[in-house]
Amino acid sequence: MRRAPLARLNRLANNGKSVPAKTGPAAGLCESQKKGGSRPKPETAIKVIKNSNASATSPSGRRDRVCPGPGDLLYKRDTVSFWERLTDFFISQPQREEAFEQHLMSRYATAVLYSLIKPALFRIDAEKAHGLALSALRLAAPARAPAYPPSLASVVAGIAFPNPVGMAAGFDKDGEVPDALLRMGFGSAEVGSITPLPQAGNPRPRLFRLVEDRAVINRMGFNNSGAQVAVDRLEARADTSGVVGINIGANKDSTDRVADYAIMAKLMAPIASYLAVNISSPNTPGLRALQDESALTGLLDAVIEARDAACPPAKRPPVFLKVAPDLEPADIDAIARIAIDKRLGALIVSNTTISRPALASVHKGESGGLSGAPLRDLAQQRLRDFRKATGGAVALVGVGGIANAEDAWARIRAGASLVQLYSAMVYEGPTIARKICKGLIELMKRDGFASIAEAVGSE
Ligand SMILES: Cc1cc2nc3c(=O)[nH]c(=O)nc-3n(C[C@H](O)[C@H](O)[C@H](O)COP(=O)(O)O)c2cc1C
Repeated sequence: MRRAPLARLNRLANNGKSVPAKTGPAAGLCESQKKGGSRPKPETAIKVIKNSNASATSPSGRRDRVCPGPGDLLYKRDTVSFWERLTDFFISQPQREEAFEQHLMSRYATAVLYSLIKPALFRIDAEKAHGLALSALRLAAPARAPAYPPSLASVVAGIAFPNPVGMAAGFDKDGEVPDALLRMGFGSAEVGSITPLPQAGNPRPRLFRLVEDRAVINRMGFNNSGAQVAVDRLEARADTSGVVGINIGANKDSTDRVADYAIMAKLMAPIASYLAVNISSPNTPGLRALQDESALTGLLDAVIEARDAACPPAKRPPVFLKVAPDLEPADIDAIARIAIDKRLGALIVSNTTISRPALASVHKGESGGLSGAPLRDLAQQRLRDFRKATGGAVALVGVGGIANAEDAWARIRAGASLVQLYSAMVYEGPTIARKICKGLIELMKRDGFASIAEAVGSE
């Protein structure tokens, strides 16, 4: 039997002792906050984290995870089931590919539908359109995910990914539709960024489509419903299979951002496939300073300590770190060293850029982070830089301007074990992950690779 989320949070906040549910906020969140009052003193929050009882926070024994080191290749019991292994045994790779092809055809209608509604969608405000997209996914996603050919599957940081194409953070900030995204064909969904307390983000408008540039500028500012809502929602699906990473951030007005990340690590570790530490959003002033060497070391120590306190060793999700593309060579070397030293599961390269290549759209002067096609070359170069700096000792997730199978393949050949996208979904529609997977199968064959894993870093 799984414990009720609030009861679990009570135990978290009360050093493992049960208290009545109505008085139990999330770890580090005090009563006044629950009622919409001021945030807790960071020292109190950290004290709660440091003192709490590790074994009390583990839910139903849902995941078997081994805290991975660099290059570890381990199967996780809940993502590669006995039945999937049995199916692999009896069904050949060509048969799997054929089944996948049929699934694509059956989803052809979705692609046609999207091309029909896209002009209307693009006439309304970008943020409203995003809200509609979330609702459509909730209502219309297929009943189950495609059966991917084994050549697309890989194990990264101890997690079995059925295909390498993930949904990047920011699309599903509150963890509302991770399973719908997986059923649409994404091999993983990263929800967030989620902060300890709910926050409204920056004033609207704050999201802009740069149609001529196939790009997006956003200055959302970590708008999200906060940790409590996310925990309740994600705990409800915690026994469902599928890779769902949780991207964690700090509140804008926090006086102790490290404490915020530690709170988030503690709360999310028991329900995340992996934790993504986001210190690279350009829309929270000062956040990117956490990428500096000494700040980053302290931050990761706090996150890892909080994660370890929340889960017994076999159930600890790996920690991924998401970096900006706007980094100097010395920063890249320092981050790579720290990532190896702290045995991070992966580096996610990269977030949006504050740089502005030549753009055509009327929105080109908007402030915020730029994503989509104009970010592609910069993100590809940063991935190469991190591959060189890490020497392949840490897995890399390539993000930024990936819009088709060729882009994804180039990122994989440059060293990415996995890729993610967001902006291209706006332009290409919800079938994009399946299209990229199909293209990757063809590109693997063309270039003589038997699997994605074999092609990583082969350029
Ligand atoms: C509207 C929007 C919101 C985003 N919000 C987040 C976020 O909350 N956390 C995060 O780590 N990245 C966020 N991102 C960055 C994306 O995850 C991704 O790193 C970036 O957009 C580059 O990928 P793309 O070119 O495929 O969009 C956001 C991006 C967009 C466009």
